[in-house]
Amino acid sequence: MERQSSRVLVCYATGTGCTKGVAERIAEALTRAGLVTDVAQFAQAADPRAYDAIVAGSGTRAGSWHPVAKKWMVCNAPALKSRPLALFTVGIAMADRPEKESETLGVTDRLLERTGLRPLGIGAFAGWYDPGKFNYLERKIMGIAKAPVGDFRDWEAIEAWATRVAGTLTTARGSANRSGSALS
Ligand SMILES: Cc1cc2nc3c(=O)[nH]c(=O)nc-3n(C[C@H](O)[C@H](O)[C@H](O)COP(=O)(O)O)c2cc1C
Repeated sequence: MERQSSRVLVCYATGTGCTKGVAERIAEALTRAGLVTDVAQFAQAADPRAYDAIVAGSGTRAGSWHPVAKKWMVCNAPALKSRPLALFTVGIAMADRPEKESETLGVTDRLLERTGLRPLGIGAFAGWYDPGKFNYLERKIMGIAKAPVGDFRDWEAIEAWATRVAGTLTTARGSANRSGSALS
């Protein structure tokens, strides 16, 4: 009998559209790996209980995920605990400082503590700073942080991570996210 493909929900939060692009690229890689994939913003995401696995990500604001992303993860924690889960964080810190990877990976630490979730993998990716896409206050903050201007999304790294995640989600299907690992 033919094995049914896993259904994966890729959900994301974005302020400027940067993380939407990352989520879509991850979804494309998962689809290429043979998974049936839906991609949606957290606010529009279907019930995670309709999926076999979840990949959730957000842009970073002041060292944290967007509030809508955190709220969704907390509200849906029971469903997320019984399914393979992978997370990704997009921030400007890694744009010109790859050594900031561990800081970016740590953006979800408090959320994971609060929810008790144990993702199979966490991805950390550089985003963008296009001043035209940020409001006055955001531009001031990015200026103070000396954020470099440009689109620093590393599509090769994003696709490679997503392909590794596809393998992990498929293997873990049915065994849920009982053990965490640093699939970064
Ligand atoms: C107010 C503000 C705070 C930010 N804080 C962080 C931060 O703490 N760490 C980081 O890496 N990037 C930070 N960023 C940069 C964004 O995460 C980055 O530009 C990202 O690519 C935007 O993604 P999004 O618009 O899809 O959420 C901040 C941006 C703004 C406007």
